[in-house]
Amino acid sequence: MTTLVYAVANHKGGVGKTTLSMNLAAGLARRGTCAVIDADPQGSATLWARIARAPQAFPAPVHAVTDHLASWLSAARPPLDYAVIDCPPAVDSPSTALALQSADVLLIPVLPSPMDLWASTRIEEMFQTVRQRNPSIRAYLVVNQADPRNAMARGMEAALQELAVPALHNKMARRASYRSAALEGVSVYDLGTRGRLAACEIEAIIEELSRL
Ligand SMILES: Nc1ncnc2c1ncn2[C@@H]1O[C@H](COP(=O)(O)OP(=O)(O)OP(=O)(O)O)[C@@H](O)[C@H]1O
Ligand SMILES: [Mg+2]
Repeated sequence: MTTLVYAVANHKGGVGKTTLSMNLAAGLARRGTCAVIDADPQGSATLWARIARAPQAFPAPVHAVTDHLASWLSAARPPLDYAVIDCPPAVDSPSTALALQSADVLLIPVLPSPMDLWASTRIEEMFQTVRQRNPSIRAYLVVNQADPRNAMARGMEAALQELAVPALHNKMARRASYRSAALEGVSVYDLGTRGRLAACEIEAIIEELSRL
């Protein structure tokens, strides 16, 4: 059995890498065994899971692994169905390079702002470099903090479509529940009605990824 490995990376800080990693892992943990690999020396994913209060442990264990990632994944017992690697905001760091070598799918959260999309040539460069070492990796942009009330500006949709990396149709909206989940050390699935819309977004992302 092989583990389906998702790496969540972007050279930009604060775009939602850890938010997507933790909620995606919680959604995947409802489907099989899943662990989060915290490849970021800032340790945000580790801290997030540590806030969780017993008996409600975070549904996917978080492991800080920055070295020997591939052997760590193959040695995991029982074998994992899924792993989600939360990368630091530096695509040229050794831990990001290792993560991207081990990943089947690279997810790149992006904010729907002109400034972020102008910086996206860096994303295209990152993807080209990754592909040289890991030719079978697939990559998708995931729009985060979309305005829940307004459709995305048409210019933004057009700018996204011009990038060499395709964007998922499903997005994460800007919602207080994503912040609350982090503050409470849980995922949006565990917030009851407060987290319902966000959990639906994560489910839609997982379903879309499973069809691609
Ligand atoms: N969809 C969202 N709605 C509301 N707040 C969000 C959303 N996504 C992320 N945030 C908030 O934005 C901030 C940055 O998110 P996060 O820590 O996930 O980004 P990051 O890319 O992992 O940052 P870093 O580069 O520092 O690792 C956090 O306070 C988080 O709670
Ligand atoms: Mg982070």
